[in-house]
Amino acid sequence: MPDKSREERRNAVIEVLNQARAMELYAITQYMNQHYNLDDMDYGDLAAKVKLIAVDEMRHAEMFAERIKELGGEPIAGHDKVVEQGQAITKIYPFNATLEDDTIDTYNQFLLACRENGDSSSIKLFETIIDQEQLHYNYFDDVREHIDRLGDVYLAQIAGTPATSGLNSPGFATKLPPQ
Ligand SMILES: [Fe+2]
Ligand SMILES: [Fe+2]
Repeated sequence: MPDKSREERRNAVIEVLNQARAMELYAITQYMNQHYNLDDMDYGDLAAKVKLIAVDEMRHAEMFAERIKELGGEPIAGHDKVVEQGQAITKIYPFNATLEDDTIDTYNQFLLACRENGDSSSIKLFETIIDQEQLHYNYFDDVREHIDRLGDVYLAQIAGTPATSGLNSPGFATKLPPQ
């Protein structure tokens, strides 16, 4: 079997980067919907964290787009998944933990595709982003467990906490660069 041409290898990498970007665009819209609803339910701290995580996903979508552009591709503009609206608080956290877990698994497969096609920059990009998805998973799974174990007792502590994430909040996993 003849080796793939350089162009075929580059296109294979662009393809997985774009699939990953579509997954980020879906996560952004799903998490934003949850953020508004958690805020409306007056669970300020939970709302603020979901908002910060949505900001991380925006950065990921941008990082994938920048790499796609570097490779001469066209970043995908949307996703074709349906955003679930008005999820109950008992549903949000297992839902998000599963989403992050599936994302980590899929990105590891995409990383292998980048390795197979010899793109070390894209491998590093997936490594960085997978580490951040792991932090998201850990957080969502912790809250899921608290709600499971303590239910209303836990939620009563959160009710009425401030929903603001602060003007200088860069994201959940993304830290501000040193000034
Ligand atoms: Fe992400
Ligand atoms: Fe994430």
